[in-house]
Amino acid sequence: MNNKVFSIILLFIGIVVSGYGATPEKLRKTLTNGAPMHDTQGNVINAHGGGFLKIGEYYYWIGENRKNGVFVSCYRSKDLTNWEFRGDLLTRTSHKELDKANIERPKVIYNEKTGKYVMWMHYEYGPDYSYARAAVAVSDDIEKPFTYVKSFRPFGNMSRDCTLFKDEDGTAYFFSSARENYDMMQYRLSDDYLDAKEQVATLWPGGHREAPALVKRGDYYYIITSGCTGWAPNQAKYAYAKSITGPWSELINLGNATTFESQSTYILPIEGTKSTSYLYVGDRWDGKQYFNSTYIFLPLTFKGENKLELNWTPSVIPVVKSGELITER
Ligand code: DGJ
Repeated sequence: MNNKVFSIILLFIGIVVSGYGATPEKLRKTLTNGAPMHDTQGNVINAHGGGFLKIGEYYYWIGENRKNGVFVSCYRSKDLTNWEFRGDLLTRTSHKELDKANIERPKVIYNEKTGKYVMWMHYEYGPDYSYARAAVAVSDDIEKPFTYVKSFRPFGNMSRDCTLFKDEDGTAYFFSSARENYDMMQYRLSDDYLDAKEQVATLWPGGHREAPALVKRGDYYYIITSGCTGWAPNQAKYAYAKSITGPWSELINLGNATTFESQSTYILPIEGTKSTSYLYVGDRWDGKQYFNSTYIFLPLTFKGENKLELNWTPSVIPVVKSGELITER
């Protein structure tokens, strides 16, 4: 055997051995709805009430962790199915205001002007939901611990379930449930995204909505919300508008009476070479045993001019390159 052939054989053995050694798990291709999800180290993914960001070829998933004094954790993936744990962004020791805090529904957006990642979330202090505040944290690096800025009630309003939405022109909005969850408020953020600058609207006053998630597609903005039934699932509804500042349509039923046993948290666009698909991301809460909560990923279908449809499928294969979603029939 000459040297060249010998080195090729060695190289081949090296690739096989290191390949098997470094990846104990096989690459996953499927998002299985309602099943426990594990990261690439085999640990359960704790990212509930979460949101997503695309940076380069990575999708980042940031959500509630709640284990061992951790509030918010960060995962990343190139294919949306194999998630690598990247770190804890906010913990009980990040700031003194967090020592007895409870953090829900963290969402992160990037501010082009300041070059910083800004997180908004629902902040509680103590055992119940009476603080009803928003909180803000900031970081230069999406994967590194965030600096806690403050908690407050925007314009004096209670603030519970919430989300962020960044419009195409860079203007960002914070949506949150106020007045004991009876009103869904919309605020325009300051240019640095660290403050609520303007109270833009009260959506469906008295409508009792929470779990907001927004997306823009074509000429329309869409918002999905749930009703307010604690940890128990209920009928999601959506509305659409031609402008982010409204007027919004009436609330229209989406999915089935329990939203397939889930509550909305995010709408994830998957932009590929063939198409852009949209995944509804929801939490299937276990209110008694929080850590048994799972995730629901369902294709969100746009019909006609501005109609939304959500149908059940046990699993989804996201093809991030083409932007297509393959579902089980
Ligand atoms: C429903 C909310 O959407 C969740 O984030 C959480 O606050 C539960 N209620 C608590 O009951």
